[in-house]
Amino acid sequence: MKLFEINQEQCTQCGICTKVCPVGVLDLGVNGIEETFPHACIACGHCVAVCPTAAIDNHQTPQVNQETIEKFPVLDKKTAQEFLRSRRSIRCYKNIPVPRDQLLELVEIARFAPTGSNSQGISYMIVEDTRILHKATEATIEWMEDQNKTLSHWSFDYHIRSYREKGNDPIFRGAPHLILGTAQSNFPRARENTVFSLTYLELYATALGLGSCWAGLFEMCAFSNYEPLLKLFNVPEGKVLTGAVMVGYPQYSYKRLVDRNPLDVTWL
Ligand SMILES: Cc1cc2nc3c(=O)[nH]c(=O)nc-3n(C[C@H](O)[C@H](O)[C@H](O)COP(=O)(O)O)c2cc1C
Repeated sequence: MKLFEINQEQCTQCGICTKVCPVGVLDLGVNGIEETFPHACIACGHCVAVCPTAAIDNHQTPQVNQETIEKFPVLDKKTAQEFLRSRRSIRCYKNIPVPRDQLLELVEIARFAPTGSNSQGISYMIVEDTRILHKATEATIEWMEDQNKTLSHWSFDYHIRSYREKGNDPIFRGAPHLILGTAQSNFPRARENTVFSLTYLELYATALGLGSCWAGLFEMCAFSNYEPLLKLFNVPEGKVLTGAVMVGYPQYSYKRLVDRNPLDVTWL
């Protein structure tokens, strides 16, 4: 079966589909649009999405699954800057669970992040049961204490004391949910694709009134294959944890945009 279906009556042979294709799957020949390297298609959907007359369809990324919108939104630059700069890592959460449909909405957006060669490949696990989080905090702290026996780490010391002496949760900060990325254990782009996806998720979370924060301490423990932690999550056979972000309703709102290190740029 051919990869493409071209509606010859609608096709104006403008050739835009051939120009936006990242891998040269299509060509504009004397007989119109031809598929030249269909096996190279990465299913990015551009050929279908860009066609001004909806003349092309691609079996790997069907037009019926694409959404037509009249006007692509373009934020004015002040709004765009303020939106991107106002995302914060939230470390104080309300003790309120997030409805399942909102958690689903988050991961639904995460899957639209860009990935090398459109490789995607990230699945998600959403923790709703805070008892799992409490156990995961305890396991991560135990792992940190274990690590400290050989090499004392100042930030580990701080977090261990915060947990053991003050009863704080320095791992998930009292967030009611944790969203985990998982991927096949042999997937070479697993971590980077997780980072792109969860970054999309974090940016979108603000639109739902939600806050989030990377669970980096938890990740360190998980990536070291600490069994007492991993067994809490029942990661499917052949898959590994690739990233984690905590999610919940923020307790406080920020009043100012933070600064960063001065811009360091070189022109060539
Ligand atoms: C990969 C990664 C891991 C992180 N891990 C933690 C963590 O374990 N605990 C935490 O409180 N913040 C964590 N953070 C949040 C950073 O501290 C935060 O992004 C940084 O201080 C900048 O603040 P902002 O995100 O509010 O702009 C992590 C961030 C990233 C990107």
